[in-house]
Amino acid sequence: MKFLLGLLFTSLLAPLTFCASPTGKWSVSFNADGTVRETSVFLKQEGDLLTGYMLSHNGYEPIRDGKLTGDSLSFTIIRDNFGEERKTNYTGRIENDTMLLQMPGWEDHPGPLLHLKHVSTETPAAMPEAPKKISLPEAAPVPSNGLAKTPPMGWNSWNKFANKVTDKLIRETADAMVSSGLKDAGYTYVNIDDTWEAGRDAQGNIQTNSKFPDMKALADYIHSKGLKLGIYSSPGPKTCAGFEGSFQHEEQDAKTYAGWDVDYLKYDWCSASQVYDYHSMPAVYAKMGAALLASGRPILYSLCQYGVFHGAQWGASVGGNSWRTTGDISDNWKSMSHIGFDLQLDLDRYAGPGHWNDPDMLEVGNGGMTETEYRTHMSLWSLLAAPLLAGNDLRSMTPAIFAILANKDVIAIDQDPLGKQATRVAKDGDLEVWARPLANGAEAVGLFNRGASTAKVSAKKSDLRLTGGGYSVRDLWAHAERGEFSDQFSADVPSHGVVLIKLEPSK
Ligand code: GLA
Repeated sequence: MKFLLGLLFTSLLAPLTFCASPTGKWSVSFNADGTVRETSVFLKQEGDLLTGYMLSHNGYEPIRDGKLTGDSLSFTIIRDNFGEERKTNYTGRIENDTMLLQMPGWEDHPGPLLHLKHVSTETPAAMPEAPKKISLPEAAPVPSNGLAKTPPMGWNSWNKFANKVTDKLIRETADAMVSSGLKDAGYTYVNIDDTWEAGRDAQGNIQTNSKFPDMKALADYIHSKGLKLGIYSSPGPKTCAGFEGSFQHEEQDAKTYAGWDVDYLKYDWCSASQVYDYHSMPAVYAKMGAALLASGRPILYSLCQYGVFHGAQWGASVGGNSWRTTGDISDNWKSMSHIGFDLQLDLDRYAGPGHWNDPDMLEVGNGGMTETEYRTHMSLWSLLAAPLLAGNDLRSMTPAIFAILANKDVIAIDQDPLGKQATRVAKDGDLEVWARPLANGAEAVGLFNRGASTAKVSAKKSDLRLTGGGYSVRDLWAHAERGEFSDQFSADVPSHGVVLIKLEPSK
């Protein structure tokens, strides 16, 4: 009887605790690959309305449209995306004193589900005011570092591994780059993307987290293979994945990278929006450009600011060897084709030896596209004189994927010393022809079919701005000669496919 009464009592009490007001502070600190991070939500409940704010690596941000329905809650945070509002929706559930909050992800990478504890039930005080943003004066142009005479080639950890990158993975990738033959095909840089960083020591020196026990030893290993090592940071206080950024430590970090013998820096805007007025973006990038030069080590400088604020127009003048022209690529046809075909128009004038437009890294071999689509990806990126940074698992690459990444004729288009980026010379619905002039009077021409079924695509002489007399035609994927070029060259191109040809002046 006593037991039954006890059971009745607890089951009556349970819904009481369950329905307790979410008003107060909810907090979690969690270990993100070696870095301890905190997120708190400060809520005030009135009926089914929630007001308050959130504190995360983005700083304090007011929550909007907060709603409580039973034990489920939702709210929106509005962020300033370079003058445009971007809404992010959060959803959660309250279970007793725990709030399960789903964090937004990056494109195809879902964010973590946080377990926040109800650490205070007091109505939160007003949100602290955001500090004023910094406006930097215009910076002097940063002299060229003399690197990247042709677009950089290598590999980057983000597309396949995101926060799973480790010292071991980087070493194994370098091994695979050599043993597969990709190194011989021209791939050189092995680049660690976000999530290697820990905090700073008492002198402000950036520390690596537990995934990277000794960066200098790792660089030595990479160099012993005849390869180069790349690293990643942000001009903001935090990187995009919430790790330590280079804000107010630019010179010091550049020296640290040089001391580790790093060869490449990807510098990703991320939380810089919280501290800088975005009109200062060129000056912010110039600061690191100058710091890398002053470090005394040749470090390739790759800007990542998603093409906002006309990055292509000033990327080279801040010392950039490349600059992203768009948001993040995903491993699917829609993303790749939209970025490659639609978002690169009119950027060709900014590219040239030493400074390149970057339509983001390759997804070839990551499984979300067909081999036909990956050939289109590789062909288009080569025509665009884009950095060729593979993003797949090199340790388990199939021969077919290797053949796409390592096609020497296609790579030679990308690496052509003239450094002229292709333009779209003809478009007829889903059918597009892109062409780029090459050294010694040759021309690379891509016949693309973005449609759903095989179609005949023609490259016409009148569209190609050819200057010489006769040309021979070579098909760079079929590895076959296609005779003399007359007034036009036509080919049946499969859905989402390409026929990539090189026109060589006849002797
Ligand atoms: C941004 C960049 C990506 C990657 C991630 C890492 O989204 O555009 O390429 O570097 O950050 O957090």
